[in-house]
Amino acid sequence: MPVQDAHTTILGLFRVAGDGYVSGAQISRALGVSRTAVWKKIEGLRLLGYGIEAVPSKGYRLQDTPDVLLPAEVASDLGTKHIGREVVYFAETDSTNLRAHELGKAGAAEGTVVLANSQTAGKGRLGRQWCSPAGVNLYASVLVRPPVAPRYASQLTFLSAAAVARTVAGTGKLPVTVKWPNDVLIGGRKVAGLLNELDAETERIHYLVLGIGVNLNMTADQFPNDLRYPATSVLLASGHRVSRLDFTRCLLRNLDSLYGLYLARGFGPVLEAWQEYFDLTGRTVEVDYQDRRVTGVVAGLDGDGALLLKLADGTRERVLAGDVRPLE
Ligand code: BTN
Repeated sequence: MPVQDAHTTILGLFRVAGDGYVSGAQISRALGVSRTAVWKKIEGLRLLGYGIEAVPSKGYRLQDTPDVLLPAEVASDLGTKHIGREVVYFAETDSTNLRAHELGKAGAAEGTVVLANSQTAGKGRLGRQWCSPAGVNLYASVLVRPPVAPRYASQLTFLSAAAVARTVAGTGKLPVTVKWPNDVLIGGRKVAGLLNELDAETERIHYLVLGIGVNLNMTADQFPNDLRYPATSVLLASGHRVSRLDFTRCLLRNLDSLYGLYLARGFGPVLEAWQEYFDLTGRTVEVDYQDRRVTGVVAGLDGDGALLLKLADGTRERVLAGDVRPLE
């Protein structure tokens, strides 16, 4: 049995036992291995940071759970319908989006989630790097297979932005907003970035990878000096550390409920959820798109999520993709 599955099984037994002990014999039966092998697996969990007490004649008892994102912990009793039924974890990988693409091509189930403790080549938008130090943040890629044409793929960006904004807002009283279409900010500083990637043929999406990076417990000295935008983390904005495990589970539930709504009722409810965090309506913004820069007042969003601008000469402009900056 792969070591991750053995850990999952043991943690499952601990969960059922609550505060009580799980005997070595019970674990050995569940894993189909010797008592010596059980002891080795327990040592493996201790190395990952789990505090496990061993008492002769009683067995093992879980005393302390580290803030790691092991699949067993992330997926247990999640109660979701679509997202997080399969969770894959890497202590280190180049990019969770790349791993999710591999899984997508190999036919992985909808809702498969790839998580990493650190990324060596985290991908940002427009070919930029996403700073991904170990142990502090969330790096996740979620595979979905929505039954819609590729031209609607950008709707899923609004979906993940709304789910991330809702989850960040749930960590405390924070001024969370979304920047059209796909950054999440606290007090105007970027706390999360989304990189959605598509694998499709002309009329059909094979799969979409929703790449989500959230700065959770990152400290100021961990941010690169050459960032092109003001950034923050939940810790820096609130003064409190957040449990990566709790945050991840909450995010997967929020993604799941919005995705369920999307499948049942289309883009409307998703856009509504996103708009709860959008504060640029009525404000003057500058938008860079298609090698142009335009200035206008945000009139709202179109049904497909395009930004509607009212320009100084009274004309209207529909922007499908671009970089927006508020001017006041
Ligand atoms: C942005 O530039 O704003 C998008 C950043 C997206 C980062 C996340 S971290 C998890 C996933 N894996 C990656 O390589 N990138 C995305």
